[in-house]
Amino acid sequence: MILLPTQSTQLARVFSLLAQGERLAHYAAKQQSQLTLTKGNASHSIFFKQQARQELFHSRVFDGTVLWLGRKHAGKPCAQLKKFTSHVEVALCKGALAESVLAIQLVLEAMGKLILEGIDTRMERYRYGLKKIRSTILAQEAEHYDFGQSQLLTLMQQTNISRSTMRALSQNYHEMAHDILDHAAPLFDSLDSDIESYKQKLTNEVPDWLK
Ligand SMILES: [Fe+2]
Ligand SMILES: [Fe+2]
Repeated sequence: MILLPTQSTQLARVFSLLAQGERLAHYAAKQQSQLTLTKGNASHSIFFKQQARQELFHSRVFDGTVLWLGRKHAGKPCAQLKKFTSHVEVALCKGALAESVLAIQLVLEAMGKLILEGIDTRMERYRYGLKKIRSTILAQEAEHYDFGQSQLLTLMQQTNISRSTMRALSQNYHEMAHDILDHAAPLFDSLDSDIESYKQKLTNEVPDWLK
């Protein structure tokens, strides 16, 4: 894969952003595992624990890619992702498991998957390599997303959270996700990707019952 210096810097910044998202997913899944265990659901707690391990692995792969691209200092903390993170932290602190699942397994996972698929297509075109690891990560993300959808429905039934409350939360987290994508737009411009199409796809990923 031959990249212009500006493209490799932009690509390193995209991977740095992805790594930041993975670290948030790792932290959240770890907390979700604890919360689920205290609610007496050992099997779901194990899934979250496994997810936390996988997210840590993903973050290391993406950090490693930044280094491989030779752009160690390319990435800066994303303020919009920090805002998203602080909302998730508050939800986890008050034990709002359903809200945290909505934010992490549905919104963050869907956004990460879209970005990764976009990069993946490009990497495939340029025969970038790491094919197996890329497909493994994408398969794991799809599992997290599917598990999140079923978890959210179960949690809503168990806790009597209204659909309108979840819809309002979903809208709020999606707005924050769109802010993250807007912030990242210049990075995608130079990689010939269209951020508006990512935003549209993210909106399309919202399950019908949350619209
Ligand atoms: Fe991940
Ligand atoms: Fe994930």
